[in-house]
Amino acid sequence: MLEVSQIRKEFGGRVVAVDNVSFGADRPQMIGVIGRSGAGKSTLLRMINRLTPATAGEVLVEGRDVLRLKGAEKRAWQRDCAMIFQQFNLVPRLNVVTNVMLGRLNGHGALRSLFSIFGDDDIERALSALDRLGIAGQALQRAETLSGGQQQRVAIARALTQNPRMVLADEPIASLDPLSAEVVMKSLREIHERDGLMVICNLHTLDTARAYCDRVLGMRQGKLVFDGLSSELNPAVVRDIYGADHEINEATTSTSIGPVPRPAEHIGPAAVPA
Ligand SMILES: Nc1ncnc2c1ncn2[C@@H]1O[C@H](COP(=O)(O)OP(=O)(O)OP(=O)(O)O)[C@@H](O)[C@H]1O
Ligand SMILES: [Mg+2]
Repeated sequence: MLEVSQIRKEFGGRVVAVDNVSFGADRPQMIGVIGRSGAGKSTLLRMINRLTPATAGEVLVEGRDVLRLKGAEKRAWQRDCAMIFQQFNLVPRLNVVTNVMLGRLNGHGALRSLFSIFGDDDIERALSALDRLGIAGQALQRAETLSGGQQQRVAIARALTQNPRMVLADEPIASLDPLSAEVVMKSLREIHERDGLMVICNLHTLDTARAYCDRVLGMRQGKLVFDGLSSELNPAVVRDIYGADHEINEATTSTSIGPVPRPAEHIGPAAVPA
């Protein structure tokens, strides 16, 4: 169903952010992408979603190269692969249910979108997505008044109302405290299992990839250096992904559930030391 072939991104002809990466999946999987800061994880997802133009390569989805789509077909593809971001990308002053319905705008004509005319089915769909994520009670609150974990669940609900074929999540838990992170990862896992959706998720932490993903892609300096089961992430593989010049242990690459070592609203990933 997905075949990424020799995808490449050069910035300014000098920085090779993604260096001829290939991988495929013949069924919906929950895939984690790990690697140090700057390894190319975000660029990879952004090329698949067409937020960033690829320098070369193909992304075949059911045999069609989505990198070649233009206009309405390109927008349809962007609706088909919903993106979830580290910073949620909600409209802070709009209430939660309106934020979720914005996920449907892509499916409406431009004029209808302009006047924000939502039908009963849009409202119905948004509320049921919120209910599923356990935040229907906050439907009428402004998005900015919610905690980070709740905001990310709103973003997931918005993605679901797009009725996507796959979900791409770029560090969805990097700004969250461990407990919120767990709720968000469980939600993504549930979407994968119950809706049979492919989920590709960039993650900073090894233990999260191990706990929630069946398959892991390891990137180093733009290259795909590991593609295997999460159970195959042994110390040698981990050193290869994160670099042999660093003493890597679970402590520096994990989001332990326990006492929160920093404020819940702390912005910025629990990064592997650069
Ligand atoms: N718009 C851009 N212009 C120039 N270089 C860029 C641009 N975006 C990314 N890069 C470079 O491409 C490389 C890969 O960046 P990318 O953001 O994909 O890494 P990442 O693995 O997502 O890192 P992080 O874990 O910090 O989010 C880095 O060297 C980065 O500096
Ligand atoms: Mg990134």
